[in-house]
Amino acid sequence: QTTAAPLIPESPTYDKLREAASGCQACPLWKTGTQTVFGEPVGRPGPGPRVMLVGEQPGDQEDREGRPFVGPSGRLLDEALEEAGIDRSQAYVTNTVKHFKWTGDGKRRIHAKPNTTEVRACLPWLEAEIQVFRPDILVCLGATAAQALLGKDFRVTQQRGQPIPSAWAPIVVATVHPSSILRAPDPEARERQREAFVEDLRAVARLIR
Ligand code: URA
Ligand code: SF4
Repeated sequence: QTTAAPLIPESPTYDKLREAASGCQACPLWKTGTQTVFGEPVGRPGPGPRVMLVGEQPGDQEDREGRPFVGPSGRLLDEALEEAGIDRSQAYVTNTVKHFKWTGDGKRRIHAKPNTTEVRACLPWLEAEIQVFRPDILVCLGATAAQALLGKDFRVTQQRGQPIPSAWAPIVVATVHPSSILRAPDPEARERQREAFVEDLRAVARLIR
């Protein structure tokens, strides 16, 4: 019942979608989030394969700026993409859920995981983004995106970096979420996890070359 589906414009374009999503109140997260953080880029992708990266939900900084992956996770993602040889300027970056969910007193806002009701409510936006952008390769960053698009039994740990048969795009791959790397217990673990993440993105780069 709680779903953004009725808000999806007929014959959607990127601009129409973004505009419609900016007023979305289909689930309670519009109250915790400052604004809808829609996918980017705004413009047309360059020549070459279209890559779409899907995260979980905007973080604190994304919520304030209204743009996806501009905070610490985004910096890690940018660097990893560059190392893997994927051009971010040609990639479309978005999230499974478009509003920031957090707990705390408002001064320090602590990320809270969106629940299945919220993910389901928001999914029509992501589906429409996929329909409009038509990625050649779709990369799920973390379990929230992977399970939203590939089913709740999908396990990133078991299938990361491998192409997964799916109707969403000719190639679908899942890997970890960059924020999980930032949460690693010590610098060595973090570097190891970062290397594995870059390795998954290199596999993506090879698939589209
Ligand atoms: N984490 C996400 O999943 N998305 C963002 O945009 C930022 C952090
Ligand atoms: Fe709408 Fe998604 Fe925001 Fe919920 S999280 S209000 S479904 S845009």
